[in-house]
Amino acid sequence: MSVLSVVGARPQFVKAAAVSRALRTAGLPETMLHTGQHYDADMSQVFFDELDIPAPRHNLGVHGGRHGEMTGRMLLALEPILLAEKPDWVLVYGDTNSTLAAALAAAKLNLRVAHVEAGLRSFNRRMPEELNRLLTDHLSALLFCPTRAAVANLAREGIKAGVHHVGDVMYDATLHAKAAAGRRSDILLRLGLVPGRYDVATLHRAENTDDAQRLKRLTDWLKERAAVRPVVLPLHPRTRAAVTAAGLDLAGLAVIPPASYLDMAALVADAAAVYTDSGGLQKEAYFHRKPCVTLREETEWVETVAAGWNRLWQGPGFAPRSEISDYGDGQAAQRIVAILAGG
Ligand code: UD1
Repeated sequence: MSVLSVVGARPQFVKAAAVSRALRTAGLPETMLHTGQHYDADMSQVFFDELDIPAPRHNLGVHGGRHGEMTGRMLLALEPILLAEKPDWVLVYGDTNSTLAAALAAAKLNLRVAHVEAGLRSFNRRMPEELNRLLTDHLSALLFCPTRAAVANLAREGIKAGVHHVGDVMYDATLHAKAAAGRRSDILLRLGLVPGRYDVATLHRAENTDDAQRLKRLTDWLKERAAVRPVVLPLHPRTRAAVTAAGLDLAGLAVIPPASYLDMAALVADAAAVYTDSGGLQKEAYFHRKPCVTLREETEWVETVAAGWNRLWQGPGFAPRSEISDYGDGQAAQRIVAILAGG
């Protein structure tokens, strides 16, 4: 059985690392393809280094531009490679433009698509990610869901065949990193942070950065938090550009360059609280049992809110806390590989 994994953006490197490790353990060959969507060293290469992800055999070098243009350029570049590789499975991750481009290029060539992190919905079709995952799910033969809510979302759209609740590969990655982060990240020392006496924040979603007024409300909200405890803000290049364009400032926030995976794991593990518009970080906060405030109007990770670990920044307070069973036991990637091998 041959697998071609398509990655392109930061969260996909983390998910692919877990699956890639399980494929290697099972002795199954994998070809890695990088679309090039994220290209700065601290947005891409550092993840390959830290997480031992196989070097990509192909890099499309496609990044920037409008969403349609980026996706279209990826489609053009993907087709000849997929035709030459003819993998048994094209494995796609999450909900970025790279995910949709790979799923569409593969499905049109009658190659089988397997989607890791299938079934998530925000029910907000203004988000590019919602369109990407919706279409990818409808093109996929195997759909690996991290939660029960994701399975139910797919069922409502009539997708029942090939759906598996396997748990969350990001939990696999967190367990793997937990031991390593203590050994390999000295970020608290470097930033002079005291465990439990700072918060960590991220902000990068288009719906937050591309509206200057909204961006100001969010950065003002973070600044209010920083009056209580230091707020560390690893800054995505999109947000850096948007802040400058809107004439805003981030005075009072501890702004740092984008953090590597292990540095981020260490930052979250010792934070008092997490503020984020990232999907992955909402769960990583829970994996480290840290309260999270989501800087959006809705979340796909509804169980984190129901279990009292997460709340929306403008929504009601935290619900009473409980544990979440959906994300599994750190073996989601092994389950995915077993199902791929069986298909
Ligand atoms: C993408 C994903 C989003 C994911 C995020 C993780 C889509 C639609 N969105 O958003 O779901 O949560 O990745 O970070 O696919 N840039 C650089 N260097 C880089 C990467 C980006 O400078 O290495 C700048 C570029 O100017 C680019 C902008 O950031 O135009 C936005 O990057 P892009 O890949 O379009 O989307 P993200 O906002 O990163």
